[in-house]
Amino acid sequence: MENQIFLRACMKQKVERTPIWIMRQAGRYLPEYREIRKKFSFHEMMHTPSLMSDVTLLPFERFDLDAAIMFSDILVIPESLGMSFTLVPGVGPVFNEKIQSRSDIEKLSLNIEYFKNIYDGINTVRKNLSKSVSLIGFSGTAWTIACYMLEGKPSKDYSKIRLLMHNDYESFSLLMDKITDSISKYVNGQIDSGVDAIQFFDSNSLFISQDDFEKYSLPYVKDIVTTVNNRGVPSIYFARSISSILSYLLEINCSVVGVDWSINLETVRNTLSDKVSLQGNLDPSVLLCSNEVIEQKTKEVLKSYGRGYGHIFNLGHGITPGVNPESVQKVIQTVKNFSPQFK
Ligand code: CP3
Repeated sequence: MENQIFLRACMKQKVERTPIWIMRQAGRYLPEYREIRKKFSFHEMMHTPSLMSDVTLLPFERFDLDAAIMFSDILVIPESLGMSFTLVPGVGPVFNEKIQSRSDIEKLSLNIEYFKNIYDGINTVRKNLSKSVSLIGFSGTAWTIACYMLEGKPSKDYSKIRLLMHNDYESFSLLMDKITDSISKYVNGQIDSGVDAIQFFDSNSLFISQDDFEKYSLPYVKDIVTTVNNRGVPSIYFARSISSILSYLLEINCSVVGVDWSINLETVRNTLSDKVSLQGNLDPSVLLCSNEVIEQKTKEVLKSYGRGYGHIFNLGHGITPGVNPESVQKVIQTVKNFSPQFK
């Protein structure tokens, strides 16, 4: 474990340079991914262990990254509870049925067998991955997953969940409890299968107010982070519009805070009294710019974290499909060349 630079950074230990991986690194910006996707559905790619392993490892044929993230999706949790979705081109994930009533929530029932192929995939990846590279497992948070289950598809404002939590708290908490139970079992299974760290995606954290976050989302986040901490594995909590929830971040007790691109790392580091590691936070749109801009903006992120250990370089949200893979190479080179001066 000490040989993995990513894990050392998670624990704020000494590293010779800043480790780097990229959110959505095994995705559509890679021509190799698009080729595989022509032959297989998204679900086949997630649930065929050998294919899942191959796709997870695709970025390593091009780049020297410090962590792999298992190829899957946060929406496997609703599927484990009996819902199912289809990826609709130009729209995104669309559920075949959505939650519309209390009885829909009551009907949700965890099928633990659903995760089996994902666990086999993790096992395969861990066997094929270099020992010095960490394997990150992940899940969505209950809040972010519930947003999708209630809307049934991507939405501009995810208002249905706020309606439910204010109008019918009992049904809301039943739904959040069921999701949290599935997440806990799922991340435990991922750890048993060989992941080295777990990242929680709270991508819809921007659709809850600062005050409501404390009551309606924070307790569920703390629950799943504690589950991971109890296993002795680093936990990463990634949220968007993080400035509105800065005051709760230490309470979550994660090993690493994943910082979105809207805020300066120095501000987050100072606000959190340098108590946890930080991951992030280059604006993904920079990857569409010239090499000069990419180098300058990457250096700015390194500089905004500043000296000392506990920084993992990443984007401030997922990489977008239009990015040229050469631009990713430029970011990696810049981090490797310039980060040693900040250690
Ligand atoms: O980081 C990685 O490379 C690992 C794989 C990964 C995917 N989704 C693959 C994927 C991860 C970590 C996710 C997480 C995820 N999924 C999130 C949280 C991260 C974020 O971006 O905020 C969310 C909100 C989802 C839900 C989801 N899945 C959406 C909204 C979409 C459509 C998005 C789009 O860009 O069209 C997906 C599909 C999806 N998940 C794709 C991939 C590679 C595209 C699949 C394809 O069309 O081939």
